This record gives sequence, C-alpha cells and structure tokens, in this order.
Amino acid sequence: MSTPKENENWILSFYRTSEISGALFFGRLAKSLRVPAIQRDMTKHFADESQHAWIWTKAIHDLGMKPQNLNIAYQDKYIEVAGMPTNLMEVLAITQVFEKRVIGQYSHHRSMPGLDPVIHQAITTIMEDEKWHIQWIGDALKGLEAEYGVELIQSTLKKFSDADREVYATSLKEHEDRISELFVKQKR
Ligand SMILES: [Fe+2]
Ligand SMILES: [Fe+2]
Repeated sequence: MSTPKENENWILSFYRTSEISGALFFGRLAKSLRVPAIQRDMTKHFADESQHAWIWTKAIHDLGMKPQNLNIAYQDKYIEVAGMPTNLMEVLAITQVFEKRVIGQYSHHRSMPGLDPVIHQAITTIMEDEKWHIQWIGDALKGLEAEYGVELIQSTLKKFSDADREVYATSLKEHEDRISELFVKQKR
C-alpha cells in the first residue's frame, strides 16, 4: 500500500498524462479534419486538453510534488479492445465514451472529504470544459445521423462503452484502487 501523498502524486500525474494524451490525439485530428464546424470545435477541444495538462502540471508543483512519468496510453488500450476507429463517426463515438469516463472520475474525486483546495479548484475548472466536450461531440454525432444512421451510431457507442468498461476493469484499475485508498484514509 502507498502513502496518501504517493497516491495523490500518482493520481494527479495520471490526470496530467491523460490530458496530454488527449491533447495530442485531438491536436492530430484538428490538423487533419476538413469539415469546418467539426474542425473548429475539435481545435478548441485540443486547446482545452492542453490547458488541462498545464493546470495539473501547475497543481502538482504548487502541492510541492513533481509529476511522475507514467506509461499509460488510454487511447491505445481502447483501440486494442474495440479496434481502430475507421471514420469520423467512430472517432467521435470513442471520444464521447472517453469524455464521459473522465468527467465521472473527476466528479468522484471532487467529492472526497477534506480535498485540498488546489485540487478542488483544478477539477472544478476542468469539469466546465469537459461538460462542453460531451455537449459538442453529442451535437456533432447528431449531425452525422443522416449520413451514418441512428442505429449504427448507437451500436458504435455501445461497442466503445463495452470496451471502456473492460479497459477500466483491467488495465486502468490502478486509478480506481488508489483513489479508493485515498477516500478510506480521508474518512479516518
Ligand atoms: Fe481534459
Ligand atoms: Fe475533455
């Protein structure tokens, strides 16, 4: 078992790494996408994830810690389980599932009793953007219904939700374990 400080450092470094991976993923998409409305929102999305990476980097330093280099590639795990997204609709669907997972993690963490105000503020700021991410991707998926069909979009979302649960239950269980340990410590 790790000390609360070690767990905190790991978890915040995990968030930082995830936000950097998200920024790189959406940055590449923003660079290659040609559909104007989606290109615009994807670019803002990429900029937000970059900002989130900075918010965590700063928070870790403000708390007197150093970010850990974690070798976690969330998106790679999804792709291993569900297969590579092959078109724009699939990319948006995988992103929607991923964003919902992220906001769930943040909201759970923010509910921790006695949470340091630095962490509370970072999560609150980031969650505002994450809500918009879910919103714009939902709208963009709606806009693709005529092209792909509602049923295919729904089944694609389900395929990635199943993959998400599998990835989380196996490869990414460490986050859940560490945050549970922190919750237990805070209650004592
Ligand atoms: Fe983010
Ligand atoms: Fe996001």
